[in-house]
Amino acid sequence: MDNMPLLKVDSVSAGYGDSEILHGVSMEVREGEIVSIIGPNGAGKSTLMKTIFGLLHPRQGTIHLRDKDISHHSPYQIVGLGMCYVPQVANVFTELTVEENLEMGAFLLKNANMDERKERVYELFPRLKERRRQRAGKMSGGERQMVAMGSALMLDPTLVLMDEPSAGLSPKMVELIFERIEHINKSGGPAILIVEQNAQLSLQMAHRGYVLAAGENRFEGTGQDLLNDPEVGRLYLGG
Ligand SMILES: Nc1ncnc2c1ncn2[C@@H]1O[C@H](COP(=O)(O)OP(=O)(O)O)[C@@H](O)[C@H]1O
Ligand SMILES: [Mg+2]
Repeated sequence: MDNMPLLKVDSVSAGYGDSEILHGVSMEVREGEIVSIIGPNGAGKSTLMKTIFGLLHPRQGTIHLRDKDISHHSPYQIVGLGMCYVPQVANVFTELTVEENLEMGAFLLKNANMDERKERVYELFPRLKERRRQRAGKMSGGERQMVAMGSALMLDPTLVLMDEPSAGLSPKMVELIFERIEHINKSGGPAILIVEQNAQLSLQMAHRGYVLAAGENRFEGTGQDLLNDPEVGRLYLGG
């Protein structure tokens, strides 16, 4: 039991309509890990995240959260089991304020101590506290990413899926976001499964990583192994 991964994706095929995008992808996330998925555009990284979160369902293979088969669960059921998803785009309610966005993050919880949870998010992202009455749509890309991450953390999840949190951000903001992700994970927080274009940085931060290409597993290993692998470097790290 103790050796059971938190998340196990086993030989999953999935896609849209007639087109199959993932062809038997396998991967796992263990308790407390940061796991990074890298790979070229169109590899199926976002499709994999959507399939794990129940927005798509596997045609073959299974997805387990601990010992529970969630392959055919809805996102709503999956959130209830402690998994959150920060999508690549449209990940905040632009018409709501920062504070309202955070409250939406925890709306599923009946007896949540909202104030305490919000304070925890504000500690992580003091900038959100300063701007808590501002509409999210009026904020910069980096600040919106903080709102999206903060909303996910309101649920006190055991696993957070993040799809390209650094996309479109300035180098300085990318650094801040990555530093915060590491901090969240290190301070006894959730395991994190992160998809990134910024392969170097995300592998540096990750305990383990996977390279996905054309909907298939290509490489896997510790973040450091993948960074040191000459073939991974040449093909996927621009080395
Ligand atoms: N909603 C969709 N309907 C049909 N095809 C899609 C949809 N979303 C993505 N695809 C296709 O799936 C493939 C993988 O896309 P995606 O998972 O977004 O890749 P990545 O995130 O690795 O860039 C692409 O060929 C893309 O065109
Ligand atoms: Mg994507």
